Amino acid sequence: MTTQSLIETLPKAELHIHIEGSLEPEMMLALAERNGLEAPYASVEAARTAYAFGSLQDFLDLYYRGMAVLQSEEDFFDLASAYLERAAADGVTRAEIFFDPQAHTERGIAFETLLDGLTRALAAAEKQHGLSGALILCFLRHLDEADALKTFEAALPHRDRILGVGLDSSEVGYPPERFKRVFRWAADEGFRLVAHAGEEGPPDYVWQAIDLLGVERIDHGIRALEDPALVKRLAEDEIPLTVCPLSNVRLCAVESLAVHPLKRMLDAGLVATVNSDDPAYFGGYLNDNAIQSADALGLSEEQVATLLRNSLDASFADEAWRTKALADFDKKRAELDKKRAASAD
Ligand code: HPA
Ligand code: ZN
Repeated sequence: MTTQSLIETLPKAELHIHIEGSLEPEMMLALAERNGLEAPYASVEAARTAYAFGSLQDFLDLYYRGMAVLQSEEDFFDLASAYLERAAADGVTRAEIFFDPQAHTERGIAFETLLDGLTRALAAAEKQHGLSGALILCFLRHLDEADALKTFEAALPHRDRILGVGLDSSEVGYPPERFKRVFRWAADEGFRLVAHAGEEGPPDYVWQAIDLLGVERIDHGIRALEDPALVKRLAEDEIPLTVCPLSNVRLCAVESLAVHPLKRMLDAGLVATVNSDDPAYFGGYLNDNAIQSADALGLSEEQVATLLRNSLDASFADEAWRTKALADFDKKRAELDKKRAASAD
């Protein structure tokens, strides 16, 4: 069994995927046409050529430009359905999906329009693929907290369809502490909490996300390794990290996959998971991220299995779902070992 087939065969959860970042150029151009809008790029090839980024901000500029083709409930349904189909093919059994409502409401799209499209797609994927899905509303950190508070207020009537809140967009200069009140409010209302931190920003932003916002998982967190006390805290409290290797390389946060901190994170006893972030922009979905990272870093089968198992355990699915998912994972892995032992005889 190669690590590639191990990755392809084992069940897994995706915990860090921005649904707007799964908008492939083909769909972007098709939706521009369907909605009578000027296409953001002359062709699919032109879009892919433009996707050369020197930083997170370079990417975000094109990310917001691209998502402007999303207008109707059907558009959001089609977007999420395409992602969920692709995720199911990768063996994803649970997807906790980020969405950026402020990036749409500020263009005049109603909150209900995008939420209805996304939740309809989740229900269809559950029925068709048995894929369990949930939504995490991300606040855009380049906007102020008043905007986040207003957005959360608009989300509250739909609380039964939103699992948690997160924090994304431009990081440096926009520390987590600016969002203390809205995270406190979300916690009081029973929402699960995550935040992007330590992607480009310093370890202090990871401390803030944990201690001031009270998050249960850190999205990215790669720069946490610069601070031994922080590594100790993350390990001791078993705070999961949703790592996105291809994203980090494409946004020049890490020089190459061969020097990506993922292996060091595992060696330090951190609860790391592998995810795709914005697969339409960064050249790969979940399994691509895992396979390419395992190859480049020389991860052992044990390490690969740990990463995938961590994703199920770190998910916000209820206890019964996680217990069953972990038992299914262990059973599948034992079967694979048995098969291999038999074929080696
Ligand atoms: N970082 C911050 N914000 C984002 C990202 C990311 O990787 N992707 C989409 N929004
Ligand atoms: Zn992200």
